[in-house]
Amino acid sequence: MICAQRVVLVLNGSSPIVSFVDVTKTFETQEGPVHALENITLDVQSGEYLAIVGPSGSGKTTLLNLAGSLDYPSSGTVFFRGQNLAELSRREMAALRRHEMGFVFQTWNLVKELSALDNIRLPMAFARVPKQEQITRAVELLELVDLADRKDHPPDQLSGGQQQRVAIARALANKPRLLLADEPTGNLDEETAQTIINLLRQLNQTENVTVLCATHDLTLADVADRSVRIVEGRLQKE
Ligand SMILES: Nc1ncnc2c1ncn2[C@@H]1O[C@H](COP(=O)(O)OP(=O)(O)O)[C@@H](O)[C@H]1O
Ligand SMILES: [Mg+2]
Repeated sequence: MICAQRVVLVLNGSSPIVSFVDVTKTFETQEGPVHALENITLDVQSGEYLAIVGPSGSGKTTLLNLAGSLDYPSSGTVFFRGQNLAELSRREMAALRRHEMGFVFQTWNLVKELSALDNIRLPMAFARVPKQEQITRAVELLELVDLADRKDHPPDQLSGGQQQRVAIARALANKPRLLLADEPTGNLDEETAQTIINLLRQLNQTENVTVLCATHDLTLADVADRSVRIVEGRLQKE
């Protein structure tokens, strides 16, 4: 069955970067099972900016975690570029996350002892990119997110919006194909949120990175190529 699905995905011609096929995720808790996602079937097309919109608790983070191979589905299959993520070893998954995916969260989680430049260098250091290349790419990214003049500043000398821009630059360090953004404007005021939204749109195009962005903010969904709505773990019909 799984093999047949893979063949279909390849023969289809279009190129989804991520495919969810009848994906269900249930968390077992002391209070009983929590059905976070139910029968999700969804293709994220390569190059698109797709917003996942839904209220708190609807399953957005769970969906992104599955796309980012941070968790497994209870049933169904998640494919990344035709590869069933459940078939990868832990090592292969780690490599995939490091080289092909970038993550941006509501809290930017920068290393507080490091400058903006060195925060952006970190994922490249983990990927064993030579030092000079790390610096060149980090400077290029700081320019892209309009923070070239803040490269030596540690996070506590940056505003929330600036920290999020550093976090976005860090997520792009290893030129990922897929950027997973989980409520990236959730901690920002409206005006700053708008600059982050515009930045993600711009990077989607200039860096040729597919963006999968979870949000309850409709302005963010507005700039996306497409948005899908999730309520109580189920995709709503458009
Ligand atoms: N690790 C977990 N254990 C138990 N329940 C969880 C866990 N993660 C998420 N949930 C539950 O799954 C549902 C979806 O959560 P989540 O994906 O975080 O939603 P959203 O990101 O849309 O707010 C919620 O009911 C949440 O409480
Ligand atoms: Mg969430």
